[in-house]
Amino acid sequence: MSGVRLDGRVVLVTGAAGGLGRAYAAALAGHGATLVLNDIGVDPLGRPEQRSSAEDVAASVRSHGGRAVADASSVAGAQGGRAVVERALKEFGRLDAVVHSAGVGAPDGEFDELEDDALAAVLDSHLGGAFHVLRPAWAVMREQGYGRIVTVSSGVVLGAPFAHSYAAAKAGIIGLTRALAASGEPLGIKVNCLMPLAWTRLAAANPDPRTRDWMREHMPAEKVAPAVVALVSDDVPCNGELISVGGGRLGRVAFAVAPAARPEPFTAEAVREHLALPLEAERMQVARSVEDDVRRLRADEPPIPRSVVFAWFAAMESGDGAAAAALLAEDCEIWLPGDLPGSGTLSKAAFLELVGQLGEQFSEPIRLSFGAVTAQEDRVAVEAAGESGLRNGRSYRNRYHMLFRVRDGRIVLYKEYSDTLHIKQAFGLPDTVVTG
Ligand SMILES: NC(=O)c1ccc[n+]([C@@H]2O[C@H](COP(=O)([O-])OP(=O)(O)OC[C@H]3O[C@@H](n4cnc5c(N)ncnc54)[C@H](O)[C@@H]3O)[C@@H](O)[C@H]2O)c1
Repeated sequence: MSGVRLDGRVVLVTGAAGGLGRAYAAALAGHGATLVLNDIGVDPLGRPEQRSSAEDVAASVRSHGGRAVADASSVAGAQGGRAVVERALKEFGRLDAVVHSAGVGAPDGEFDELEDDALAAVLDSHLGGAFHVLRPAWAVMREQGYGRIVTVSSGVVLGAPFAHSYAAAKAGIIGLTRALAASGEPLGIKVNCLMPLAWTRLAAANPDPRTRDWMREHMPAEKVAPAVVALVSDDVPCNGELISVGGGRLGRVAFAVAPAARPEPFTAEAVREHLALPLEAERMQVARSVEDDVRRLRADEPPIPRSVVFAWFAAMESGDGAAAAALLAEDCEIWLPGDLPGSGTLSKAAFLELVGQLGEQFSEPIRLSFGAVTAQEDRVAVEAAGESGLRNGRSYRNRYHMLFRVRDGRIVLYKEYSDTLHIKQAFGLPDTVVTG
């Protein structure tokens, strides 16, 4: 894979004088980006502090041969947000990416003791700041049909005592990220959210000395910064993702939803009974959009796994056995029709072995086409026709039904069913039948 280069790209970093912000600035400059470095120079509780400034960071970038200007607008207000975007346009004539890292915290404490000013400062800088900077930046990005945005959330959204305002602001940023990612998709704008963990002055406030020591040793901000570089790059492969990064470790965070339960009758008692059951983590699926969630609740809607099944068919149709195999779960069972080499019920390992031989055995790729698709919950049945020529002169042609089960986006089982009756039995039909 070629190196990530950001030459010619103008990147705006808010909170650029912070522990993480300055590491982002150095890494982005190291990859060729031109930088607008914004920071007002406050401590974690928003009190003025001269320890570091955006100008220091910009000067350091320039001293290493990079291009950077500093900006001291506060992004906690709409005027400051507009000013910093205008600064980028005035200095460099364009704006390609924004990393919004700025924000202040509030003193930890009981929820009912949180003061209005402290609450406002947190919400206005982290969440408000995202709106204030990203709205004017969005206009520029939409106009140019290109943009990269990195928002910054935190692991506290998963649950932490006392950090009420901060957790709420950071969770709001996730919602904004997902909405912008969906809106930006057709516009050439990609928006992803970082959940960093690094030894900065924020971490120094952690009350546990062992955690502090561990973070000091293992979690330098420099081990988060490469993720920011990747996320603002032209060919960043993801959009709307949450990425947890710290100490050189990278973890993708997702919303997962369990299969919908349909207690009948649907009463408060039935709901309470269902909620007392443990979450079935292994049956949960990643929800990438609200549609994913709504679809799960709609009994008559083909389920998401259909796309996995179709991808599998497409891969088989084009003769790409490796791509087809990649969609199979480790513990899948695969039934291959009787006149194919290696037919019968196969494990994934056996299938992969077979795929290795397919190129030699087939004189042309298997051509598969599909007809009616029947879908329900985690099952998809497909009417299929397959055809191929074998090197030994035999040809293969068949029509059959297949039943797929999909778990976590992978096929765990597929079987041929010789007629529609079996499909009906498998599904307890009548059921929706759609044409794929
Ligand atoms: N350090 C971590 O482990 C960690 C963990 C989770 C999330 N984060 C998030 O990462 C980001 C950076 O964290 P950090 O550790 O570098 O913190 P930091 O306090 O060192 O940096 C934040 C910077 O934002 C600036 N700032 C605050 N309000 C501003 C405003 N209105 N306008 C412009 N600049 C403003 C501050 O002056 C400061 O330099 C923050 O959003 C933080 O919530 C950090």
